[in-house]
Amino acid sequence: MAKIIAGISSSHVPAIGAAIDNKQTEEPYWKRVFSGFDKSKQWMAEAKPDVVIAIYNDHASAFSVELIPTFALGCAAEFPPADEGWGPRPVPVVKGHPALAAHIAQSVILDEFDLTIVNKMEVDHGLTVPMNLLFGQPKDAWPCPVIPLAVNVVMYPPPTGHRCYMLGKALRRAVESYPEDLKVVIFGTGGLSHQISGPRAGLINSKWDKSFLDNLSKDPKKLTRIPHLEYMREAGAEGIEMVMWLIMRGALDDKVDEVYRFYTVPASNTAVGHIILENARKASGTRKVAGKSKRGSAGKSRQAAARKSIHRIASKGTR
Ligand code: DHB
Ligand code: FE
Repeated sequence: MAKIIAGISSSHVPAIGAAIDNKQTEEPYWKRVFSGFDKSKQWMAEAKPDVVIAIYNDHASAFSVELIPTFALGCAAEFPPADEGWGPRPVPVVKGHPALAAHIAQSVILDEFDLTIVNKMEVDHGLTVPMNLLFGQPKDAWPCPVIPLAVNVVMYPPPTGHRCYMLGKALRRAVESYPEDLKVVIFGTGGLSHQISGPRAGLINSKWDKSFLDNLSKDPKKLTRIPHLEYMREAGAEGIEMVMWLIMRGALDDKVDEVYRFYTVPASNTAVGHIILENARKASGTRKVAGKSKRGSAGKSRQAAARKSIHRIASKGTR
């Protein structure tokens, strides 16, 4: 069975990518930011995930104002870096995991979350910057396949935090019904507080960010009740990116071990936040899958039947 072993969140500030590409990482301004990820790179190297599911947002690179999927799952074999105006970043092409992605699409859609399936997509700084922060800058290839899940947080209306959290739970059910033994790490990216245009450009709210990080660890359900207006007011217009962290959190146990946290202000216009949450190791194996769903029993059994049939399809597919 595939298993989500941990969730990792990090900001995706594009200037971080530019600092890497222009070899400025040793400059004091940038060293302060990058040194906060040294331990995380070590954690990743030790954890050696087989697959990463990266929750991120596209900034009108792959999509546009003409086409705005709320949740779009990358099912392709590869995702080239997008040209965001200065040519594509010099990072390796992101390799996907089409078999697991197709399984997730089936499971999550039959679980009543209507994902958009994307079979061709370029990925922008929203994905490549967190990859750099957690894997460094590999020469030829990223160390593992990555399934991108793009979330609309650019055009109103973005999904609610609660919807994101519940999608995380559906993703977990999908992963845990995949028959191959795979160690999966889920990334939640974007944020923290920032506003990049308008009269409040430059807004950063460290107090609010830190309380978000505290609750992400200990009381994520509280975060699911934050309305969009509060994100906008407290964390700036682009602070809404933080709803993506709730997808990651929903995919984990209710109780997690916070193994690492980093927060610094600013990088470009943004507060940089980063957290590593592990599913409690002692509970693994005995854990109840998606234990206390509040759905009615009809919904539950319908989903169980759907998942069983997916499981059969997936088992056949890997034989
Ligand atoms: C900045 C941050 C973002 O998240 C983004 O998408 C673009 C710019 C910034 O801090 O400049
Ligand atoms: Fe952004």
